[in-house]
Amino acid sequence: MKNFQSFISQEVMAAFETCGYEAQYGKVGLSNRPDLCEYQCNGAMACAKKYKKAPLVIAEEVVEKLTGNPIFEEISAVRPGFINIRVSGSFLANYLCQMQQDEHLSVEKAEQPKTIIVDYGGANVAKPLHVGHLRSAIIGESVKRIGRFLGHNVIGDVHLGDWGLQMGLIITEVKTRQPELPYFDEQYEGEYPSEAPFTISELEEIYPAASARSKEDEAYRQEALDATAKLQNGVRGYRALWQHILDVSIADLKKNYGNLNVEFDLWKKESDAQPYIPDMVEAMKRDGYAYMDQGALIVDIAEETDTKEVPPCMILKSDGAALYTTTDLATIIERRKLFDPDEIIYVVDKRQEMHFIQVFRCARKTGLVKEETGLKFLGFGTMNGKDGKPFKTREGGVMRLEYLISDIQQEMFRKIIENHEVDEAEARETAKLVALSAIKYGDLSNQASKDYVFDLDKFTSFEGNTGPYILYTIVRIKSILNKYRANGGKVEPGRIQAPASDSEKQLMLALTNFASALTQACEESAPHRICAFIYELANDLNHFYHETKILTEEDAGRKKSYIGLLDLTREVLETSIDLLGFSAPERM
Ligand code: ARG
Repeated sequence: MKNFQSFISQEVMAAFETCGYEAQYGKVGLSNRPDLCEYQCNGAMACAKKYKKAPLVIAEEVVEKLTGNPIFEEISAVRPGFINIRVSGSFLANYLCQMQQDEHLSVEKAEQPKTIIVDYGGANVAKPLHVGHLRSAIIGESVKRIGRFLGHNVIGDVHLGDWGLQMGLIITEVKTRQPELPYFDEQYEGEYPSEAPFTISELEEIYPAASARSKEDEAYRQEALDATAKLQNGVRGYRALWQHILDVSIADLKKNYGNLNVEFDLWKKESDAQPYIPDMVEAMKRDGYAYMDQGALIVDIAEETDTKEVPPCMILKSDGAALYTTTDLATIIERRKLFDPDEIIYVVDKRQEMHFIQVFRCARKTGLVKEETGLKFLGFGTMNGKDGKPFKTREGGVMRLEYLISDIQQEMFRKIIENHEVDEAEARETAKLVALSAIKYGDLSNQASKDYVFDLDKFTSFEGNTGPYILYTIVRIKSILNKYRANGGKVEPGRIQAPASDSEKQLMLALTNFASALTQACEESAPHRICAFIYELANDLNHFYHETKILTEEDAGRKKSYIGLLDLTREVLETSIDLLGFSAPERM
């Protein structure tokens, strides 16, 4: 089914054509003067230039053709040539009834579904998740869900960092503490223990300790570099230890991402791309793209039109080691081989933009990707504290994600029990859901590329443009519907009638924007479009609610219509927040 606005456009375009003009001038948009009309068409102005006629004359001709059309309640031509439109209530009601009976809420799926890989999360093994990883997880998860809803085949890949110096550091620290372990005995030929020699909490303490020591102790650092190289070259004991680090760490990451409602289809790692590197390097040399420069192997990628310097892409360091860039290039090869994606979207801190410019250019230049494959960098801004600097703990350290989340849950719990008398266990569960909405909505309601201030008081407020406000609105609807059902009422689709008041019509019009909000969010990989849409919808719902007696309405048909409208609003809101990656409780 077509989206609402295009139905209207279609009519006006046909009228332009009947009057002898090109149809394209009849495109209709949302009104920017909601006090005057709901939709408007500005095409007569451009049309006038082409046909050398006064715009108002054209607008009047078109309006005359459309007068009496049952879609419009009012259509008029105004100076200098605008066409102002109000849609008819019955047409609107009809559309919503159909939307309600369509299992996909009248959102059309993509005509040509694409295979899209979303590279997000990007946690580094054995390092605790911190708030820097939060944005990638939140935005990426939403981009994935939106793409899927629109019918694309979307694959989410966490792309763990498991191959760099951090692994060498951990191995070195374990060796210092437990030198007797068989992993470090080069003569050892037996099987290694199946149990890891550390727990997750030990592991989380090991990495920062090792990292700090390497900054003061050069010999230690050298040993860690050495251990990294040995691991990468496949030394058996190191590989076995690395596998333990992965197992312990991934189990913990799964739990943490799970608490955030973030699920990856693939748990691929940087190391998975390593087998592709030798052939890739050979091909780049053979085809004349890569050359030696001061011992390093590089590919030039600067372009004449560059306004800022784009350094050459380094493929191998002078000691022959692969780099972050090398891994990302090899990952593209692997993804092409395994999934042949139409597009790869990288949801990564925007400070890594240059890295991705280099990777994308190098991949295109050396033919790693097909020409039509999209490579998209969705760079996000920093999450700052109220002081405008990157978010830190009160003590000034890096904030661990778990602590941040539990702080917010605590705050929500406090608010919930302060407001009502509720069972403590239920309040704890509700607090979890509401806290997640606060974090995710607080993030997603901003355009991803912008920095934003993490403001606990604002994000957890039940008023204003916040996650808790949206949940509150959903819960309000659920409670009315429950009361209605408790009194024997049945919630049925297809019973929505033409609106009886302005606030009702406003709510109905807001609902019709669902399909276009989603299409736009998907095309632009922009979850904030959905937030903007649901915020307006929630406002319109609350306005309608305050002005309307719903359960005490005496006209049975009208009451059914109200209930249907509420239920559709609930469904649209719940579907939307699911695409943002959170859900609503039954009560709060
Ligand atoms: N692990 C990286 C980091 O913490 C992010 C990985 C992003 N994805 C990628 N394909 N490079 O900075």
